[in-house]
Amino acid sequence: MKKTIKQLCGFAIAALMSCLLAVACTPTSNNTTTTTTNSPTTGGNQTAIPIGIAVAQTSNVALLGQEEVTGAKIAETYFNQQGGINGTPIRLVFQDTAGDEAGAINAFNTLISQDKVVGIVGPTLSQQAFSADPIAERAGVPVIAPSNTAKGIPQIGKYISRVSAPVAVVAPNAIEAALKINPQIKKVAVFFAQNDAFSKSETGTFQETVKQKGLELATVQTFQTTDTDFQSQVTNAINIKPDLIIISGLSADGGNLVKQLRELGYKGLIIGGNGLNTSNILPVCKALCDGIIIAQAYSPELKNDVNAAFRKLYTEQNKKEPPQFSAQAFTGVQVFVEALRSLDKKTKLNTLALPQLRTQLNETLLVGKYETPLGDISFTPEGEIVQAKFFVAQIKMEADGNSGKFTFIQ
Ligand code: ALA
Repeated sequence: MKKTIKQLCGFAIAALMSCLLAVACTPTSNNTTTTTTNSPTTGGNQTAIPIGIAVAQTSNVALLGQEEVTGAKIAETYFNQQGGINGTPIRLVFQDTAGDEAGAINAFNTLISQDKVVGIVGPTLSQQAFSADPIAERAGVPVIAPSNTAKGIPQIGKYISRVSAPVAVVAPNAIEAALKINPQIKKVAVFFAQNDAFSKSETGTFQETVKQKGLELATVQTFQTTDTDFQSQVTNAINIKPDLIIISGLSADGGNLVKQLRELGYKGLIIGGNGLNTSNILPVCKALCDGIIIAQAYSPELKNDVNAAFRKLYTEQNKKEPPQFSAQAFTGVQVFVEALRSLDKKTKLNTLALPQLRTQLNETLLVGKYETPLGDISFTPEGEIVQAKFFVAQIKMEADGNSGKFTFIQ
């Protein structure tokens, strides 16, 4: 009993101390709503600053989302080794969105209300962003999209920005690269997943570019991201004898579509859009993935200090070059970290109530300039990424048909 009383006294003293510390760090002015539970930093104790990561860790969309998890985790380690936010570490809080809108909405709600994150990197798909981002917007929580490339993402609201360059600036590079490989291309067949916002947006850009280049848009075939059998669309396309096929879909469907195009005899060039931009499609189309052309918003070869560090950490862990989705997720975390550092220098973060901190973080991140693995980036006032360099890669499969890599051609 004696011991219990002593323990209770100990807890009481500890609680009193932390109350005093919290009071000492609470601004004396109008800020009475600041509480130690809402604030990411508590008094003299350095509680890590929580940043939410809401990407697809399960479902078919995890083929993309897992790469984002890897990139974000590398950023957490790297920036904490550098001292985090002026001495206070960051802590990533992961909530799995799975592959649909409901999953993204749940993840966002949990991160905002329960985990009380300062901002969110996510979700994986534009299709999910159009449903989940308005929740963050209403709650005043900054969102940095790591991979949403559909038209209209930053326009969802003032708290929404992205580090994933939109289809309009990335996708045309793939068609230019295809024309360099085969200047004889005339007839083009386009495929897109009609149940996916990004695929619909990307095919719009591809179709416009085809016409702008004076090529013939000979057929447009549609499918669903959940489809596994593409025989009738493939047959329709092959019948018109296209010189180039362009696919806007996601990874599992896209990989299967490539496989069936080749199995049914198509021999020409294939361009895959951003949803196929992962080595996780290699086990889907295996040897038949060989030659797919995919535009890139990241190159491991990009020369700057942070990319050198990111590339080293990634290759040490994964024994391969980092992919675009990992680089973009790293960059999303980096933008939050650098904006938090800069805000903290102006106004100590632990003097801000969480709603103020989220709002000021959003304002700060939008005006920053960042040297990232994607190169030097900044944002338009609307939250659109300003990025200078894009690349094109082609998948090169090994003779065994099991392993392969993205070879940069531009
Ligand atoms: N870029 C894809 C999207 O926006 C993953 O949905």
